[in-house]
Amino acid sequence: MRETKKAPLYERFAQELEDQIRSGTFPIGTRIPSIRESSVQREVSFSTVLQAYRLLENRGVIEARPQSGYYVKLQPKKMVPEPEFEPVQGNPTNVSIDEVSLRLIHDTLNLDYAQFGAALPDPTLLPTSKLNRILAELARDGKFPHHLGEAVEGREDLRIQVAQRAFGFGCDISPDEIVITAGCTEAICLCLQAVCKPGDLVAIESPTYFGILLALEAQHLRALEIPSHPRKGMSLEALRFAVENHPIKAVVAMTNFSNPTGSLIEDEDKRELVEILRAQGIPLIEDDINGELYFSDRRPRVAKSYDTEGLVMLCSSFSKDISSGFRIGWVAPGKYYRAVQCSKYALNIRTSVLPQLTIARFLESGGYDAHLRKIRRAYAQKSMLMSQAILTHFPEGTRITEPGGGFVLWVQLPGKLDSMELYHEALKAFIAIAPGYIFSPTHKFDDFIRLNAACWSEKAEVDIARLGKVVKNLLSQNR
Ligand SMILES: Cc1ncc(COP(=O)(O)O)c(C=O)c1O
Repeated sequence: MRETKKAPLYERFAQELEDQIRSGTFPIGTRIPSIRESSVQREVSFSTVLQAYRLLENRGVIEARPQSGYYVKLQPKKMVPEPEFEPVQGNPTNVSIDEVSLRLIHDTLNLDYAQFGAALPDPTLLPTSKLNRILAELARDGKFPHHLGEAVEGREDLRIQVAQRAFGFGCDISPDEIVITAGCTEAICLCLQAVCKPGDLVAIESPTYFGILLALEAQHLRALEIPSHPRKGMSLEALRFAVENHPIKAVVAMTNFSNPTGSLIEDEDKRELVEILRAQGIPLIEDDINGELYFSDRRPRVAKSYDTEGLVMLCSSFSKDISSGFRIGWVAPGKYYRAVQCSKYALNIRTSVLPQLTIARFLESGGYDAHLRKIRRAYAQKSMLMSQAILTHFPEGTRITEPGGGFVLWVQLPGKLDSMELYHEALKAFIAIAPGYIFSPTHKFDDFIRLNAACWSEKAEVDIARLGKVVKNLLSQNR
């Protein structure tokens, strides 16, 4: 059962009911107790039950049928065994993964392969036709100002939209404190440039998104891996030890639904994280790219919302939910604003204007929240269906994360199988995966793979079954 100690009552109630459904108490198609019945039986308020049922509806566990009640939608789910967690403190290390990563990125874009490798959104869940309408309107009405320069920090209308959303998740950031960037990647790189110089030491989660490792490598920075729990994220105990014993110049953390594990640092722990770093005056580069893709009905906060000294540099982008091709992201760099602005100018003067304008119009026109609700529901369901398929088709002993948001699954292979070997064998079967090798500079996660659940479909189920066979073959050869 997921940890629910700090969760509100309706979440705990939803979790208890989901556990009952998974264990087979309420088989698929069964009517579960009505809201009124549950409220009386479990001695909780009507609104608590209603919220819990909505949450389970969002997760795709139950469905409401008009004038009839709530019914179980999914087969009893197999319990998902969580990956092992070994809190081993690393040593400072150089980063050198660029060659392998770039080759893998190349393979993950090859459409001849079943694609589980790249963490790209489902293209059918992007608001493409609405974006196209906005683009057509801009072209037709001559409203795109080709001749105009824009500020280094990006268009004000987009920064206003970003600031308004940030206010909604507990951050008081004004539009003047935001810099629009070419994706979250550039935001992270600018932050690193602003606070580090070559040779400096940066603390990172272990495992971490390989894009962060590439950024460190490109800037000749060294990494210190902080063990990160597959569900709870970066170990604060290990981090406290690290900042007290190493000359760390910055910390990079994906606080909400990390890539590759989907881990979430609970809000109270985010407060503690900020406090640990504040005591040492160390900046936090917070990657919140998946923050909006939560499966519960409450957006997790960001560490930035606890920051009183401008030490947290909050980075995000619209790559996962609006357009991965537009490459529009942003950073609220706190007291490092000027340094980030200067780096941005030195690098490319400003972010391309047309995609900024298009996304600003999209956000202004309303409907973003409804769009997010739709894709959250879809990704929650896709993630659950994919993890069930993995459990069905992969050999016994396979372990999987069960993220509360985002759309990647982190899979631990049985028998210490080598993920690079699996990667090559899977390519022969025209299947692309992301091997654990690239998620740590010291290759701590060689027996893991990351799979993209966003692409879940009937065909993907067949491909997961084929991948399961490849895993089983390798395992039997290694025995
Ligand atoms: C955690 C994380 N951060 C950053 C990025 C890169 O984002 P962008 O495409 O906006 O540069 C990704 C993309 O997969 C990601 O998963």
